[in-house]
Amino acid sequence: MAMRFPVRQLALARRTWPASPSSRRLASNLSGAVKKTIRADAELSNPDPGADSPSAALVNEHAPYMVATYARPPPVFVQGEGSWLWDVENRKYLDFTAGIAVTSLGHSDAEFTRLLAQQAGTLIHASNLYYNPWTGALSKLLVEKTLSSGGMHDAAKVFVCNSGSEANEAAVKFARKTGKAIDPSGNKVEVVSFDNAFHGRTMGALSATHNPKYQRPFAPMVPGFVEGRYNDVGAVEALVTGKTCGVIVEPIQGEGGVVTASDDFLVALARRCREVGAVLIYDEIQCGMGRTGSLWAHAGLPREAHPDVITSAKALGNGFPIGAVVVNDFVGDKIKVGDHGTTFGGNPLACRLAHYLVERLSDPALQRGVREKSQLFTTGFGMLKERFPELITEIRGRGLILGLQLTEDPGAIVKAARERGLLVITAGTNTLRFVPSLVVTDEEIAQGLQILEDAIAATR
Ligand SMILES: Cc1ncc(COP(=O)(O)O)c(C=O)c1O
Repeated sequence: MAMRFPVRQLALARRTWPASPSSRRLASNLSGAVKKTIRADAELSNPDPGADSPSAALVNEHAPYMVATYARPPPVFVQGEGSWLWDVENRKYLDFTAGIAVTSLGHSDAEFTRLLAQQAGTLIHASNLYYNPWTGALSKLLVEKTLSSGGMHDAAKVFVCNSGSEANEAAVKFARKTGKAIDPSGNKVEVVSFDNAFHGRTMGALSATHNPKYQRPFAPMVPGFVEGRYNDVGAVEALVTGKTCGVIVEPIQGEGGVVTASDDFLVALARRCREVGAVLIYDEIQCGMGRTGSLWAHAGLPREAHPDVITSAKALGNGFPIGAVVVNDFVGDKIKVGDHGTTFGGNPLACRLAHYLVERLSDPALQRGVREKSQLFTTGFGMLKERFPELITEIRGRGLILGLQLTEDPGAIVKAARERGLLVITAGTNTLRFVPSLVVTDEEIAQGLQILEDAIAATR
């Protein structure tokens, strides 16, 4: 049996948590304005935990030992079920973030949990030096489901790793190797990517992420990475040349603000890649695995715009770390024994779980549900846009990767929503991003939209 954090006991502890003498002293000295704010907060269902809360006590104990790479809000999450999260003080939150497009089957999916326990008790890891039943089974299933999905018609082989960044590292290395096989002079090494892209934080993936905020502290980048303009069809010919070994592009940019590539752009890129012998990589780490209502976001494109490589991660593991690189034979044939590797990547535990996820996320009924739920969201967003026209300028995205373009920093709305029990995240410049679990219910969508409306209204 999986251990569960004793949420109820903690909630009880919270109710009887004694105010410290210093906080009592502080309370008696509060100005009228602050007292009014506190009264307003008391009307919130989930006011952020205060400085003398159990959450703060836990954070204060642990944070000094954690490298400060994230600015986190105060709640401490201890349990999840479906689209809901509970914090250490038993506040309940509707989760429209799904761990940044990861927990597509929701939190604590029963079969996932059962398989995890079963495989953990059977074999977790024996290394890539040996065969196991699940790395191959996952690879076969990913290829079969890709072929039947309407996406990448010549998918042939899979390399399994641990994360999105690692999948992109492998894809870039495979493109370099392919470039060298085609042109042994060493001139065909350039990798093209696009403005506002996000491909990860490791040095290769970061070098393809042309955002000064991410790159500048770690410069110099890996040589040979070239930036193009997303959706600029006219620029493709000059951008992708004989020197290009690979082009990496997100069919829908997630971190960049939920921006969709036009079909024309992807067709032009694919055509040009074929002309110059460059590898076309679709980074579907955020937008793939059923999130748009088909297994891959590019599935609706004509065959000529299919990629040579797809990278996947996030929902492929529903929270268990895994990444995968699907390649066609043009690329796969160039990769030889010893060219690439990983210690943990593709272990039987991760692959058994991903095998289950690929089965579930490629289910046509689930995908139909995604498209229907998407309509509920966009209808609701349309109503919000009508009510707040000065704030919401655009509704973007597809399926359950959706964005609201705002005219201001969404920080206050994110906090107001959280304090009313809804978790949402941001992206790009002033974009609110919605990437809920793919099994979110209609009622939950309605509830979340209501909270969002209240949160926006409260910040006006
Ligand atoms: C499109 C895309 N590519 C790559 C990555 C990097 O994945 P990871 O954080 O698993 O390394 C992300 C993560 O947000 C992503 O959204």
